[in-house]
Parts: sequence; C-alpha cells; structure tokens
Amino acid sequence: MATMKIELVEEVPSTNEYIRRYLSGGENVVVCAKRQSAGKGTKGRTFLSEEGGVYLSALTFYQDLSSREAFRVMMHAAVAVCKTLEHFGCSPEIKWPNDVLVNGRKACGILIENILEGDKLKASVVGIGLNVQNDVSALNGIAFSLNEVVPAVSAEEVRNVLLQNLNKQTSFSDYQRYVRLGQVTVEENGESYDAVVLGVLEDGRLQIQVDGRERTLSSAEIRRIS
Ligand code: BTN
Repeated sequence: MATMKIELVEEVPSTNEYIRRYLSGGENVVVCAKRQSAGKGTKGRTFLSEEGGVYLSALTFYQDLSSREAFRVMMHAAVAVCKTLEHFGCSPEIKWPNDVLVNGRKACGILIENILEGDKLKASVVGIGLNVQNDVSALNGIAFSLNEVVPAVSAEEVRNVLLQNLNKQTSFSDYQRYVRLGQVTVEENGESYDAVVLGVLEDGRLQIQVDGRERTLSSAEIRRIS
C-alpha cells in the first residue's frame, strides 16, 4: 500500500460504507472511527463496534490486478493484523482464509469488499475491527480482546501499529507462517466432515486431507480446530 490519506472520525454507521464516498477520487485512503453505530460483519451480520476497539477501512486502488489475485488482498489484511497482535506480545493464528485467532478466540473481524471492472480488481475496501478495550463479554467467550494480554493498551496505539503494518509489503510466506494446520471440521455445501489442513496454495486455496486423500478447497467454512 502506498502513502495514503488518513481520516479520523468519531462515529459513523460503518467505515466500509462511509469510505465509498472516495471511490470516485482514485486516491488511496484510510478511514478510522472510534465507534460504529451499524458495523457490518460478513454474511450480512452486524459487528459490535463500541468505543475502545479499532475500526478502520482502507480503500486501495490497483493499476492492473487480475480478480484472480484477490486472495492477496485478504492475505495482506490478515498478516497486518497478525503482525500487530505479535507486536503486543500475542501469538496469533489464521483460521483460513482470514479469521485471526488468539488463544483459539476471534481477535478481529475482516470484511473485504472488492470493486471489479471486468476481470480486473479496480479497488478494494478492507475493513478491520480489532478488539482492544471494548467489552466483548456479550460474545459468549468466542472473542479475544487485546486488553487481556496488555491491560493498559489504547485503541489509538493499536491503530497506529496496524496502520504501519498495512503500509508494509506482505509475502506469502508471512501468511503461511500464521496459518493453523491440523485437524478441523469443514462445512461445505451444507455438509460437514473432518479433515486435516495441510497448507494453503499461493492462489489461496486450502489443501486438506480427507480419509487419506488430498483435496483443495476454494471456499468452505472451517468450523473447529482441535
Ligand atoms: C466479520 O464478520 O468478522 C467481519 C467484521 C468486520 C468489521 C469491520 S470494523 C471496520 C469495518 N467497518 C465495518 O462496518 N465492518 C468492518
């Protein structure tokens, strides 16, 4: 990501929605909010966005990027979050494709909305919500908040480290380093089966082993890692 304009706002419904006003400008921009009144999650869910967390969206324009390369955008966001959590002493892991976990619990949400033009990726909106000092107790123990490891850390400090990491190049080996391998349950096309994650291919597909045979997955939900 090249040098970018950063806009700080107190509250917006959703930074992913707010940032769309910059789509016609062609300039990379990041919008950071202290809280969101209608944070968007994946699959039409809402994302709890109370003050104390980091909520940002980065709009990036591409010159000549094939839509087949969209995985790189996702990889970059997940790695930037992992490096940020490591900076604060955590040991993050990626649950393919881009859920970042600490101690088996979700440490952040990533919502990527791509703007396509033909078979090209014209721009992407990468929305990241990271739990820092916000209360995640309503999420029934499935969420991790950074204040569990660094009690006094502020959302602003975390946001600044995350912005630095988003601005750095990411390699595929960075991503591989964080991906959690091993036993999982896969949910695919309404079916669920046990598998072993062997790795991720450079195009983003997941390599698994099911009943002794290797397979690759382009999309599926990884439900459980034991
Ligand atoms: C998920 O469901 O895990 C993805 C949640 C993504 C939340 C972030 S917070 C900043 C940006 N603005 C939004 O409305 N959503 C994303």
